[in-house]
Amino acid sequence: MARASLLYLGLVLCVHTLTAQDVGQIRTGQEGGGQEDGEWFTGAHGVQDLAQLSWDYLQCWFSPEECEESERPADWGWPTVSWESLRFLSDWYSRVSESGDYAYGRISNNLTGLQWDLSRRVHGQHLAKDLIVTSFQDFLEDSEPKKPLILSFHGWTGTGKNLVARIIAENLYEDGQRNRCIRIFFPQLHFPHASHLEVYKVQLEKQLRDISLRCSQPLFIFDDADKIPVALLTSIIPYITQSETQQTPSIFIFLSGLGSTAINEVALTFWRAGRHREEITADDLDRPLKASIRDQGDSVLLWHLMTEDLVDVFVPFLPLERAHVKLCARDSFVARGLPYTETALDVLTKGLLFVPKEEKLFSAHGCKLVAQRINFLQ
Ligand SMILES: *[C@@H]1O[C@H](CO)[C@@H](O)[C@H](O)[C@H]1NC(C)=O
Repeated sequence: MARASLLYLGLVLCVHTLTAQDVGQIRTGQEGGGQEDGEWFTGAHGVQDLAQLSWDYLQCWFSPEECEESERPADWGWPTVSWESLRFLSDWYSRVSESGDYAYGRISNNLTGLQWDLSRRVHGQHLAKDLIVTSFQDFLEDSEPKKPLILSFHGWTGTGKNLVARIIAENLYEDGQRNRCIRIFFPQLHFPHASHLEVYKVQLEKQLRDISLRCSQPLFIFDDADKIPVALLTSIIPYITQSETQQTPSIFIFLSGLGSTAINEVALTFWRAGRHREEITADDLDRPLKASIRDQGDSVLLWHLMTEDLVDVFVPFLPLERAHVKLCARDSFVARGLPYTETALDVLTKGLLFVPKEEKLFSAHGCKLVAQRINFLQ
């Protein structure tokens, strides 16, 4: 109890730098006590660090090329953090993303740009590129979409799921991810505690409603979608099916590693059979991917979306080979305005972990660690 109220005081202290009204809201319902033992500075400090941490995380999500791997929160367990500080964090995130710099910018829906960026910036994902372009062509060229567009991205870490989501945001919305029509949910940040699901349900529903009312084409991205509590389904369903609400052509993108083993196995089978990975079709992956989601059972939100036939397109991301990682490395050099040589690209990929043990074919972290390694080279 004492600890909780100390943390609460810490929150009040931090929030003070925001607005007086917010402080008032947080103070409401707060029981006094604990001020005198001097410990609340510790609490305050903890919360501030946490806020900084999550800010870094968002920055990394928005612009990974400018993000050092060391700045990323290593673990999302938040072991020492109370529910109050997490609620503070989510409120804080909502405020930050709704304040000053952010605006309900215009919708640009630049299909040409989308196609161009996918072909230029995404490596080794012929299926994902095709599926994304086709889905958005159909969706955007339909003057009265009957339902929102629901995409589910599947694949290993570092294979380009976040990158593709960002490219979509950048080409469909002016001002990229800063546009307030876009909302990104991180389960570990927004819905961390199983005991507070009822609150999360209300919060999530409110966010979906607010943005759907104010935006002609909202984009909702759920990162780590395999960690979204199933209980939140009731908040999402009305906006996905839009049975009750007014028709808004919303876009939902779920990102997860679910089914990545199945995808990787298909890719490996093709390779072992001496076939090109570009020969892999969406049909080759569809059944194994869906089977592995089905195996997860009803404790996974995507299982429900799939069994209720609510996902329009399952987008598989293939595991990346050395040649693809080298292309990512080249991109990172170019993005930093640095010259590069074939040798530098070789050196960069040499120390990475490739699996399986025998063939050493696929990068275990995709392109994820490449940008960071450039710093070591210099
Ligand atoms: C669409 O994107 C392309 C490629 O990035 C760009 O050249 C073009 O100016 C964009 N069109 C509009 C209308 O913004």
